[in-house]
Amino acid sequence: MSEHDAGSDTAQSPQHLARVIAITVAAAVGGLLFGFDTAVINGAVDSIQADFQLSPTVLGFTVAITLLGCAAGAWFAGGLADRWGRKKVMVAAALLFAVNSAGSAYAVSEWDLMAWRLVGGLAIGIASVIVPGYIAEIAPSKWRGGLASVQQLAITVGIFAALLSDASLAGAAGGAGNELWWGLSAWRWMLLIGVIPAVIYGVLALIIPESPQFLIRAGRDEEAARVLSRVSGIGDTRGKISQIRESFEREDRASYRDLRGPAFGLQPILWVGMAIAALQQLVGINAIFYYSTTLWKSVGFSESDSFTTSVITSIINVAMTFVAIFFVDRVGRRKLLLVGSIGMAVGLLAATLAFLQAEGSGEDITLPGAWGPVALVGANLFVIFFAATWGPVMWVTLGEMFPNRIRSIALGVATMVNWVFNFIVTLTFPWVSENLGLWIMYAAFTVFAVLSFLFVRTRLPEFTGKDLEDNRELTSA
Ligand code: GLC
Repeated sequence: MSEHDAGSDTAQSPQHLARVIAITVAAAVGGLLFGFDTAVINGAVDSIQADFQLSPTVLGFTVAITLLGCAAGAWFAGGLADRWGRKKVMVAAALLFAVNSAGSAYAVSEWDLMAWRLVGGLAIGIASVIVPGYIAEIAPSKWRGGLASVQQLAITVGIFAALLSDASLAGAAGGAGNELWWGLSAWRWMLLIGVIPAVIYGVLALIIPESPQFLIRAGRDEEAARVLSRVSGIGDTRGKISQIRESFEREDRASYRDLRGPAFGLQPILWVGMAIAALQQLVGINAIFYYSTTLWKSVGFSESDSFTTSVITSIINVAMTFVAIFFVDRVGRRKLLLVGSIGMAVGLLAATLAFLQAEGSGEDITLPGAWGPVALVGANLFVIFFAATWGPVMWVTLGEMFPNRIRSIALGVATMVNWVFNFIVTLTFPWVSENLGLWIMYAAFTVFAVLSFLFVRTRLPEFTGKDLEDNRELTSA
């Protein structure tokens, strides 16, 4: 522990807290776009398939290519954040978001659409790195977890907004494939509308302050002092500034080479980060969000009931994030993750047992008797626990766990791993459930939920309440 106690940079007054919340919310619009742009395709997918006459494989690839873009964007974002500063990277992401929304809305072929979706992926990937890192850097340590959880809140609101926007546009046109305004079909409007939050994000990114860590690294101490006193209210920022400067260890900028270390070629803490990033996807959350209609139909629901259920699940996903916002700094990251793993495992196990009874295959499965409700309750229990714990807390932890010198690039690499596993789950899910059975996927998710418990139990350090500058000591222990 450094001479500065945990929470030494704590905001002094309600005004400072209000200011730091406003900055956090502005930065988190990047999370909103992350959620919106990953989910918006759901309502458009059938009409895209019809308009461009796509085979299921090409369609699947058109959908999943975004996730590859996300992985690439995440990889580059860390290095760029150190070179250009956090704000410029946010502005660049906002531009890419806007260009992708407009471009894909006017796509003339599937190739065109794929290219735009790849660009959109880059934007999402960049946002997924820059938002947690920036919030962790700007937030006083006492509230860092709650503030960083606002990113996940924004992601879930973005997913929910996409669901509602898709449904209203399809409703207004009498079907996603029908023409709406300006001769554009409803599915094109679904994509185009993303330009609005993208422009808002770009403007907000220009207004918010640069991160103190970046400024100090760039030798801009006076600006850093101003930002630190604006967000935390500390009068004399000299101690904090030299504490941050010392934490960089060396003068030169960190590079990907600094990630090398003794543990199988990489720094041990990077392995920990990559593992929690992978586990967050391997419990299968996006199998529920990306393929919800099939899931609820198998439970015995009609098309419109399936939609209502997806809306309810999405609301649960938003609402439960508040549990994390409230508890993450009080109870601590590790405890929340451990409780979450247990809850997720129970829900997933119930769903696995229910899907074991499934009759039929692929999209046409049905669950006999009471097994439908068991699957429904199990899946929602899983979402409840994920949303209150692993959803937000994984991002909080990635944002804060790496030592200052390597934070951005290590965060980028770990986040890339999150996207790669998202891609793997998303791509394997339809094939495995069609050919081997849905229950096998859920059994695997259950196993990963159990592994996530064991991993946190044995490997994850506790960062709650600590200054970012203390991480070096925590993680090298
Ligand atoms: C987390 C996951 C993301 C998922 C979302 C669902 O942010 O990283 O992949 O879609 O939660 O709320």
